[in-house]
Amino acid sequence: MKPVNEMKLIFESRSCNESFARSAVAAFVAVLDPNFEEISDIKTAVSEAVTNCIVHGYKNDIGKIYIHAKIFEGALVRISIRDRGCGIRDIRKAMEPLYTTCETGERAGLGFSIMESFMDKLKVSSKPGKGTGVTLEKTIVSKGK
Ligand SMILES: Nc1ncnc2c1ncn2[C@@H]1O[C@H](COP(=O)(O)OP(=O)(O)OP(=O)(O)O)[C@@H](O)[C@H]1O
Ligand SMILES: [Mg+2]
Repeated sequence: MKPVNEMKLIFESRSCNESFARSAVAAFVAVLDPNFEEISDIKTAVSEAVTNCIVHGYKNDIGKIYIHAKIFEGALVRISIRDRGCGIRDIRKAMEPLYTTCETGERAGLGFSIMESFMDKLKVSSKPGKGTGVTLEKTIVSKGK
């Protein structure tokens, strides 16, 4: 399926870029006239994915984060968010609610669950040592209502 519109973003894994990334994606999707809830859901899911790249993928290093967003016929939005960080050994385990490798108690282990519940679809792919990619999908149905 060919997208009717697409955009790419590459930025550094600095936490100050998290709000930039979610606002940029929201602005790209705005043409579909999403309502407040739909746009908040997308922003939250993008934030969770980008935060994961920053805190888990690259840990204390600075690396590049890649976002590729596409809009398809029927107001389907597909957003891919990738890093070239440490990767995930056991994806199924990582996606379990409340599972976290964070040992300081700062993280709840709910990022993937949030992405899954706020979007229509979530796909995670990863190779240890190579990086992680998440693909998020949502169809905008509200037309601003
Ligand atoms: N981009 C990534 N690179 C490497 N590991 C990741 C990445 N994204 C997630 N993970 C692994 O998957 C686990 C679960 O991620 P999830 O976002 O669900 O929870 P969390 O980030 O630990 O906590 P929270 O999102 O609630 O702050 C993480 O603890 C981490 O081990
Ligand atoms: Mg997380």
